[in-house]
Amino acid sequence: MFLVFGFLLLSTPTLCSNILGVFTYPSFSHQSVFQSIWKELSLKGHNVTVVTPNPLNDPSLTNLTEISVRFTYDLIKQAKIQKVLSKNANVFQSLYDVCRFLDVMVEAELNSTGFKELIVDEYNHFDLVLVDGLHPVVYALAERFKAPVVGVSPFGVLAVIYNNVGNPTHPVLYPDVLFGFHNIEQSIWFKIKSVLWSLWSRYHHHDIFVPRAHGIAKKYFGDGTPYVGDVEKNQSMLFHNLNPLLYPLRPNVPMIVEMGQMHIKPVKPLPQDLQRILDNATEGVIYFSLGSNVKSVNLDEKLRKIVIEALSELPYKVLWKWETNYLPGRPKNVVTRKWFPQQDILAHRNIRAFVTQGGLQSIEEAVSRGVPLIGMPFATDQPSNVHKIIDIGIGLGVDPGTVTKEELKKCIIEVAENNKYHRRIHEIRDILYDKPMTGLEKFVWWSEYVIRHKGAEHLRSPAADFTWFDYLLLEVVVVAVVLSGTIIYLWYKVIQLTIYWRK
Ligand SMILES: *[C@@H]1O[C@H](CO)[C@@H](O)[C@H](O)[C@H]1NC(C)=O
Ligand SMILES: *[C@@H]1O[C@H](CO)[C@@H](O)[C@H](O)[C@H]1NC(C)=O
Ligand SMILES: *[C@@H]1O[C@H](CO)[C@@H](O)[C@H](O)[C@H]1NC(C)=O
Ligand SMILES: *[C@@H]1O[C@H](CO)[C@@H](O)[C@H](O)[C@H]1NC(C)=O
Ligand SMILES: *[C@@H]1O[C@H](CO)[C@@H](O)[C@H](O)[C@H]1NC(C)=O
Repeated sequence: MFLVFGFLLLSTPTLCSNILGVFTYPSFSHQSVFQSIWKELSLKGHNVTVVTPNPLNDPSLTNLTEISVRFTYDLIKQAKIQKVLSKNANVFQSLYDVCRFLDVMVEAELNSTGFKELIVDEYNHFDLVLVDGLHPVVYALAERFKAPVVGVSPFGVLAVIYNNVGNPTHPVLYPDVLFGFHNIEQSIWFKIKSVLWSLWSRYHHHDIFVPRAHGIAKKYFGDGTPYVGDVEKNQSMLFHNLNPLLYPLRPNVPMIVEMGQMHIKPVKPLPQDLQRILDNATEGVIYFSLGSNVKSVNLDEKLRKIVIEALSELPYKVLWKWETNYLPGRPKNVVTRKWFPQQDILAHRNIRAFVTQGGLQSIEEAVSRGVPLIGMPFATDQPSNVHKIIDIGIGLGVDPGTVTKEELKKCIIEVAENNKYHRRIHEIRDILYDKPMTGLEKFVWWSEYVIRHKGAEHLRSPAADFTWFDYLLLEVVVVAVVLSGTIIYLWYKVIQLTIYWRK
């Protein structure tokens, strides 16, 4: 009896906590990861409030309050962030420009009615604050609600953020994912650039971005707000979406928890028209989508022509996510829609291959459904993701800057016809899904752990408080240099004296 009670007590979830989620950035692929999180937490009986550009608007989720900041999609369009992140942009400048945009974006969000009411209402109480830490101003919420704050990233984070929480970083072993680098490449030029980048991105974060963020925080949360850079270092836990199969391997301190396949849903039936098209296309189907950030309509005219010609010569049907009603010069075998139920399309037996920009969420969907890939990467983490696709043998890649019609066509046919890609992606899927808990279960468990223990200070890495001077052991180096200098000097003196005496 006692045992049963004990067990019940132990297995009782943290009941009905108030959880706030602030997911600021308007990108569907990022938000699809967060959506699974807030839906699941509310279904577990927590009272969840989220600020998001992509509310689910599902009336059956009775424990969920969504504050929409959908207007941020207009801001990102106006700011032409796609251009800033385009392939040939200078990555140093891009980081600076994107962070400038993030300032404007979070300020508009903090100034919006819904968010403002949330902050001002003194009866609001939260036991846990979840944030996507793209902009450090969100850490001010931890102090406002006196609650532990937990970072969530739909992929990895910049090295400077790993550094802040005391996670090991190294410019060559674990290069920054935003830099588009891949750790197979080991030329001296790559090493120099990566070292410069890690110095510069740290300087930019600590001396430019965070001070600006703190200015915004003071404006909306009051002058007494603790320095947001310090709160950022004090986050209780950091969830990221890397896994060693699809991303370069890296070590992580215990407060960093890996999620994975967060947004993958069970397969749903397709809309009738698509079902008919796919069922009928026994010759095979290629699915083509450049995702929600790159978008096919943004392709320049030259590349668009190349893609259209290549697709028109394929012996397959093609489903192309093309974001307007009309595709000029649409070939007969190509069907376009502004949006496809991608996960369900990829599950259809006639799908042969998936042409993608190489976003992590798309790769996870392809792996989950066992569809080999052709990567056409543009910016951010896409080039390194596509390197990884090629490395592990689940597809091929083309460079959108130089690709020709022949090359694209050849790649697609190779991936669609050669069974080795298909076989390999099934192997990878089996490994990826062979684990004790799903990413979502893990997320819920660790979030409730932070709520139960009011933070997780005991998991905080001591490295988070080290200065770079301590971290590089410069004191020890100085002592070693002085000591060996002294010894050498003494020896020199002894020898000099000996020589003198012998004379
Ligand atoms: C809402 O939360 C309660 C517990 O607080 C739970 O019993 C119920 O199932 C939840 N409802 C939904 C729809 O998530
Ligand atoms: C905040 O909103 C008010 C009106 O709601 C507007 O007058 C003001 O300019 C806004 N401030 C910023 C910084 O956007
Ligand atoms: C749920 O959270 C909202 C927002 O903080 C709050 O207004 C509401 O009273 C909470 N409901 C319960 C049952 O705690
Ligand atoms: C961060 O955590 C340390 C140790 O718990 C604490 O002393 C400090 O006040 C915290 N800083 C902020 C800004 O929350
Ligand atoms: C099915 O495919 C055949 C040829 O492959 C075509 O003639 C027919 O119109 C298609 N039917 C539908 C409903 O698409």
